[in-house]
Amino acid sequence: MNRLTIIGNWKMNTTPESAHILGYNISKILSDGGMGNIVICPPHISLDRVAQAVAGSSIRVGAQDVHPEPSGAFTGEVSAPMLAELVEFVIVGHSERRTLFAESDEFIAGKVTASIEAGLKPILCVGESLEDRRAGRAESVVSSQLLACLANVTDVSSLLVAYEPVWAIGTGEAATPQISQDMMSSIRSALRSGFGDAAHAVPCLYGGSVNADNVQSFLRQPDIDGALVGGASLDAESFVAIVARASEVAAD
Ligand code: 13P
Repeated sequence: MNRLTIIGNWKMNTTPESAHILGYNISKILSDGGMGNIVICPPHISLDRVAQAVAGSSIRVGAQDVHPEPSGAFTGEVSAPMLAELVEFVIVGHSERRTLFAESDEFIAGKVTASIEAGLKPILCVGESLEDRRAGRAESVVSSQLLACLANVTDVSSLLVAYEPVWAIGTGEAATPQISQDMMSSIRSALRSGFGDAAHAVPCLYGGSVNADNVQSFLRQPDIDGALVGGASLDAESFVAIVARASEVAAD
């Protein structure tokens, strides 16, 4: 895939109606296409409506989570085969799921394989806490999350990785470009150690307080291919501004 990838994670925001409008507005402003891979990830309940709202545009749709099992008695959950009829991407292992819902690397590994088996492209999120960073173990924590979550994977051709330091999410305090680049380089070497040359093609994104003013500083780093955007993806103008700034770097 063309590597520039900007993904909007709407988290638990928007109703089906407002999600439809937001998706429609983003797709209208970005109707030109040619700006890399633009993906929006609304809540499950709005996936169908948003997919319809952006149909015919270059915007693609992703889900925010998936259950590892294909079907069964898991009240309230949504499986990969269900999502695969509606969307192309799925976020797995977001730090909010790891911390608020106690998801382990092992459980997330099941989500990654279930997604790949169903034909979805998993966006695997990894990232250290402030405590990990202060203790000097950020890189080892992230590499171990990464390899544990990919333990059952042999083919990484549909995988994306998002490095989201927990301390930078929703805080307005983005990581510095240098911190992100250093971590991304470590992520790439962990991927290379597990998957050889195929690791080169895995898009690696930075996430955590990304906005139109700072996105270029991340994308100018050699190992960063895109951004996973939370808060700033909830407004069509601000998300489109991020995409526009990102494409300027890609065109350089
Ligand atoms: P913010 O952009 O709001 O910091 O959120 C980042 C994030 O968690 C995206 O998945």
